[in-house]
Amino acid sequence: MAHRIAVIAGDGIGPEVTAEAVKALKATRADLEFEEALVGGAAYDATGHPLPKETLELCKSADAVLLGAVGGPKWDKVEPVALRPEVGALLPLRSELNLFANVRPAKTLRPLLSASPLKGERGLVDLVVVRELTGGIYFGKPRERRDNGEVAIDTCVYSKPEVRRIAERAFEIARHRRREIVSVDKANVLETSRLWREVVDEIAAQQPDISVSHMLVDNCAMQLVRNPQQFDVILTENMFGDILSDEASMITGSLGLLPSASLSTPKNGKVFGLYEPVHGSAPDIAGQGKANPLAAILSAAMMLEYSFGDREGADRIEKAVEAALDDGLRTADVFEKGCRLVSTSEMGDAIAKKIIS
Ligand code: NAI
Ligand code: MG
Repeated sequence: MAHRIAVIAGDGIGPEVTAEAVKALKATRADLEFEEALVGGAAYDATGHPLPKETLELCKSADAVLLGAVGGPKWDKVEPVALRPEVGALLPLRSELNLFANVRPAKTLRPLLSASPLKGERGLVDLVVVRELTGGIYFGKPRERRDNGEVAIDTCVYSKPEVRRIAERAFEIARHRRREIVSVDKANVLETSRLWREVVDEIAAQQPDISVSHMLVDNCAMQLVRNPQQFDVILTENMFGDILSDEASMITGSLGLLPSASLSTPKNGKVFGLYEPVHGSAPDIAGQGKANPLAAILSAAMMLEYSFGDREGADRIEKAVEAALDDGLRTADVFEKGCRLVSTSEMGDAIAKKIIS
């Protein structure tokens, strides 16, 4: 049966890059159905809400969601704040779709090695950060001011089931990679981190084919710059993952290259997920054909792999991306002397052609 994909392209360069991701998916000839819906500022303009009920229903009933980006200066001052695209669409999508696992690969594309801020071969990384997305200090209560506003409190809470489900995702992901997990915490200080370690060790004992080690978050931040090749899968909680995933991804050079997945629990044998580029709607270059579609296209490859178990299709997309770069095609953001400057759709066309052949 066909896999049903909800396509919510959103604002700014969202529709431009998402169109190229759909093109790449179609080129794989996998059995896929696409249904489009409005999200973000575009949805607010049309319906008065950045996440209309029909859009949410479509996403819930689909097997996977492909998101472009939402937001832009046009909607920055919308009142109430809850109707702004980022607050009114992104956050409810995550909670309504129960997307508790954020997966961010940082993989250097060899032809773009010179874009890495790390010198020479050190910039050659292939790792994945698996970040818990719906717990920890960003969601714990109480979160408040006391003593006439002089004191502020945030609360970090994790339960064993919360840790278990994210850790199990990471083990599953590691099994298709180098089978090495580094679990990152601050267990020398935090009680939640000690609970985190306990749960990870329990799972590690049941799944001895995966090697697991623990690392303190400050050390991990340092090791990512010193020797990022040592990492395969980094498993960590919400706030540490927020910071480390940004740090890790920048090793690869450009925001236009970074895909991501946010996963839920498996249903009907498929892992439900929302796939989107890490970048935003880039209003400064929207509508000019300048956007780099690679992050969106690589997000589509992640969808094939993680949600539909189609590793071969994902591999074909990734190889096509590398081949287009090897041919010297570059969008403006990663342009170098001696390369050929192409538009968003020219890049997408070139990649689709390579996937088909
Ligand atoms: P941004 O990621 O949209 O842009 C940052 C810079 O990177 C800009 O100079 C942009 O031109 C460039 N850039 C981003 N993606 C690119 C691509 N694919 N190709 C070439 N250049 C690219 O971040 P910014 O400017 O902070 O936010 C713009 C809007 O996007 C805001 O409204 C923000 O709230 C929203 N946003 C939405 C996200 C989402 O939908 N998940 C995530 C981040 C921001
Ligand atoms: Mg961040």
